Amino acid sequence: MSQARRFLSTAGFDRPAVSTAFEPIFVRPARQADRRTIGALVAIGFPDKFAPIFGRNGEQTARLLAELPSSGTVYVAEHGGVIAGTATLTMSTSAPPPPLWPVLRRHLPFWRALRAFLLLLSMGAAGPASRTAMIEAVVVRPDARGAGVGRALMRTLLEDAERAGREEAALYVVEGNDAAIRLYESIGFAMRRRQAVGIYRGIFGARHLLYMTRRLGPGAPLTR
Ligand SMILES: CC(C)(COP(=O)(O)OP(=O)(O)OC[C@H]1O[C@@H](n2cnc3c(N)ncnc32)[C@H](O)[C@@H]1OP(=O)(O)O)[C@@H](O)C(=O)NCCC(=O)NCCS
Repeated sequence: MSQARRFLSTAGFDRPAVSTAFEPIFVRPARQADRRTIGALVAIGFPDKFAPIFGRNGEQTARLLAELPSSGTVYVAEHGGVIAGTATLTMSTSAPPPPLWPVLRRHLPFWRALRAFLLLLSMGAAGPASRTAMIEAVVVRPDARGAGVGRALMRTLLEDAERAGREEAALYVVEGNDAAIRLYESIGFAMRRRQAVGIYRGIFGARHLLYMTRRLGPGAPLTR
């Protein structure tokens, strides 16, 4: 069992997910008590991405991610009584950047914390334009995939972004992540831009990121 998985098993869901279409999926904003579970989920969802930044200790990464402040609203999806997925919606453009350094330093030795800090700063994308809502960190736990959890999360985030008056939703996805790309296309996202990741290839595991958007409000595409 990987370290992140071991952490996951102690992070509030040692029960297996119930991957049945008959179980209702309930999406809600995350609470403080969900942080450990979310940290473990994100660590497991993007294992290759975090190793070059935080090191190869999956459990340490999961703990760190559990504490790392988010620039947006974090949501979780409950399915069969367990947290089965998470996603983040960022709409604010004026909020100050969240304080990363104290959290990095709490979990990592000084030089690794500094390296992670500089990497995260240099990778940090500009906040979304005022009419746009950005969707990030979409992850479903492996044993709950294919049951509609990802789509339920995305629908809730799109509805909330629309309700908040945003005209467009946007996200980045790594080229070749076909499961995610198909999910996004199935709910009306289309690729707008393909951008090279340059020196961050080792982090993203691909040469390009795709920037996908979807209109919100009147005239928005139909979804299934
Ligand atoms: C991408 C991810 C969030 C999808 O979550 P999910 O709960 O399994 O997705 P859903 O069950 O809601 O599926 C919705 C649609 O996505 C597509 N899809 C999902 N998994 C797929 C797969 N393995 N292969 C192809 N298409 C897939 C299908 O179009 C599916 O619709 P359908 O079932 O009607 O055919 C999940 O695979 C995951 O957590 N991956 C690792 C983290 C990640 O890459 N996140 C995206 C970052 S941008």
